[in-house]
Amino acid sequence: MPTTDRKAPLGADRDHQVDFDTKVAAKQRIEPRDWMPEGYRKTLVRQISQHAHSEIIGMQPEGDWIASAPSLRRKAILLAKVQDEAGHGLYLYAAAETLGVDRAELTHRLIEGRQKYSSIFNYPTLNYADVGVIGWLVDGAAICNQVPLCRTSFGPYARAMVRICKEESFHQRQGYELLMRMMEGTEAQRAMVQDAVDRWWWPSLMMFGPPDTDSPNTQQSLEWGIKIDTNDALRQKFVDMTVPQAERLGVGLPDPALVWNDERGCHDFGEPDWDEFKQVISGNGPKNAERIERRRAAHEKGAWVREAAIAHADKHRSAREVTV
Ligand SMILES: [Fe+2]
Ligand SMILES: [Fe+2]
Repeated sequence: MPTTDRKAPLGADRDHQVDFDTKVAAKQRIEPRDWMPEGYRKTLVRQISQHAHSEIIGMQPEGDWIASAPSLRRKAILLAKVQDEAGHGLYLYAAAETLGVDRAELTHRLIEGRQKYSSIFNYPTLNYADVGVIGWLVDGAAICNQVPLCRTSFGPYARAMVRICKEESFHQRQGYELLMRMMEGTEAQRAMVQDAVDRWWWPSLMMFGPPDTDSPNTQQSLEWGIKIDTNDALRQKFVDMTVPQAERLGVGLPDPALVWNDERGCHDFGEPDWDEFKQVISGNGPKNAERIERRRAAHEKGAWVREAAIAHADKHRSAREVTV
């Protein structure tokens, strides 16, 4: 549906706005055919499509390891996990399309560098311990971010999140289980796990976005019920959840400032390198160019599939027209 259809006629704006505000305050869902403020629609399109792009680009760092998984069992698990991420991307593009944007256009925005995706996927995976640490920390951070989004105010986004979160939980557990096994192994395997944790810890904390003081859109997103928690609140939750898991695993977290604070009832921890975050999110991370190039190549290679699917659909549509 074109954007202009959603704009209320002059004079009715206020009534529509009151209806919208009442629904959001009552924690009712806003559905695609409901009136919504243009800023709300734009914010959702940006957030959902960037989330979709992150799922699709996120297939690359781990996908590289499918062919060299250490056992058939690990290969089957990793294959299933990477395939899930493709599914997450598709649910999310479908949710974005209910807001009147076209999936093909969103893909173009990604491969032309006009839209961002999660900074975490611009770091390299150096060995198989990285697969475990991505499952544990990166999917763990995704769960912290996404569980509250099951209650986000836009219906299609919230419903997509329910299914995605169930699968993310499997992703997190398979990662942790892999690391548990490696920690029971040789000294060299334990060192691989520690090295991977040291490399992924800070980028995982950056996944929650900039500090609240540097996140100007957060307040509006909270008021619209798009966001449920602030970036810093989610980051804190993630740290508190992860520290006991690291202890159980027997790995250290690379932050000398990390300590339990009795007064606050949660952990104190150090500040991620926000300059690095800005560099990576602006396209200058270690793997940005490679990730986008591969996405572009896959899109171009898949052109014949899209053309064939459209031709097939057209053929069936005209066959139906004849028989009706
Ligand atoms: Fe996912
Ligand atoms: Fe995942």
